[in-house]
Amino acid sequence: MSRSAHPAGPRHADVLPEGGPAAAPADLNRLDGRVWPGGAVRDAGSGALTFAGADVRDLAREFGTPAYLIDEDDWRRRARAWVEAFGEDADVYYAGKSFLSVAIAKWAAEEGLHLDVCSGGELAVALRAGFPTARLGFHGNNKSAAELERAVAAGVGRIIVDSHDEIERLAAIAAEHGVRQRVLVRVTAGVEAHTHEFIATAHEDQKFGFSLAGGAAAEAVARILKHGEHLELMGLHSHIGSQIFDTAGFEVAAHRLSEALAAIKRDHGVELPELDLGGGLGIAYVETDDPAPIAETARRLKEIVARECDAAGLARPRISVEPGRAIAGPPGITLYEVGTVKPLPGLRTYVSVDGGMSDNIRTSLYDAEYTVRLVSRDSAAEPMLSRVVGKHCESGDIVVRDAWLPSDTAPGDLLAVAATGAYCRSMASNYNHVLKPPVIAVRAGAARVIVRRETEDDLLGLDLG
Ligand code: LLP
Repeated sequence: MSRSAHPAGPRHADVLPEGGPAAAPADLNRLDGRVWPGGAVRDAGSGALTFAGADVRDLAREFGTPAYLIDEDDWRRRARAWVEAFGEDADVYYAGKSFLSVAIAKWAAEEGLHLDVCSGGELAVALRAGFPTARLGFHGNNKSAAELERAVAAGVGRIIVDSHDEIERLAAIAAEHGVRQRVLVRVTAGVEAHTHEFIATAHEDQKFGFSLAGGAAAEAVARILKHGEHLELMGLHSHIGSQIFDTAGFEVAAHRLSEALAAIKRDHGVELPELDLGGGLGIAYVETDDPAPIAETARRLKEIVARECDAAGLARPRISVEPGRAIAGPPGITLYEVGTVKPLPGLRTYVSVDGGMSDNIRTSLYDAEYTVRLVSRDSAAEPMLSRVVGKHCESGDIVVRDAWLPSDTAPGDLLAVAATGAYCRSMASNYNHVLKPPVIAVRAGAARVIVRRETEDDLLGLDLG
């Protein structure tokens, strides 16, 4: 069954997914630890969700809904786990695109992370937070001269160059500033990975990076070395995909990158000291998702690079990785209030919440799956097949496509969607002039607004009439 009339169109025309929705879970009140953050538990008395020590009903009263909540201890624990798993001889860059604010940049700095920014805006947040600039990596396929200028002036540790135009632009800027800017070259290793599958011969018809196979990467390396007075080539960078559960794709990429390092040594007599394997480690959005633990992933990646470099007769480079989702995703949830409940006999029940595709575009954009629970109370009612939808003027405005909720779910109830800490607030929009929700960090029962809710004044402040 085709799930959409047009591949780029909204996917709302289907009634049930292929093979039907997953069976109702045995216990609709259960909060699976793979999907929900460490600090999410049901209160034994009320059955309501306690999130990092705070009752979500209190949070909803105080801050309103919808709201993004972050379990700060869980976020910091994950950050530390990455830093510890990779150890002293590696660098872990948090990918700010997954979610960045001044508070988050400070947490990242405190937990020993480096930070990957990919626009002038993300760089501005990092600078506002006082993030140590030597620990910043700056990405992007079309960084403007002004962005590069600012990065060089600020002392950004690594600029990941992505085009011949950029090499010339950056060399000139570094020369003007009288500095030798450290750079990595972003290469396309021809590997593309998502969840369990990877393609070892992915087509290279894409905007990022220099092709290894096609020779563009070798050309970029030669050009950078020619600008040696102002550009210091530190290594190669590759990013193979997102929501990856398996290290097999990294294995192939690491092999090709090691070959490239060996070729650079042969052709130019230099051994590049760094290898960045990018981000992409997956998380559990639903109970059946089974990503590898961080420690195991780190061990595997380090093993792969060591083996490949030993085989190629190269000194082992310093590894870096750039997890975004795997740090920021699981500690975040979105809290919504139910506004309407509309049963469609023989089909399912549409449960409308007070947000939608403006605060989480991932369901309609990527067909992403999520886990949702009734959290203002528990319930012993029968499961009903539902679809949690938003309040936008669009049928594709779906938050959770196939959800089992208790059949007594009613207006005024609170629902929580798990694992929304990455790529939800950062991809939020003002579609229909809906206001973006606040981000609230919760720790030991205390809540702190780290990004406030948008107001109509914020919206209208941009509108010059
Ligand atoms: N490094 C580079 C160069 C990247 O392009 C990305 C993500 C990351 C690191 C972080 O990847 P992560 O570990 O978070 O998977 N909007 C999509 C994800 C796009 C990711 C783009 N690049 C989503 O909502 O799933």
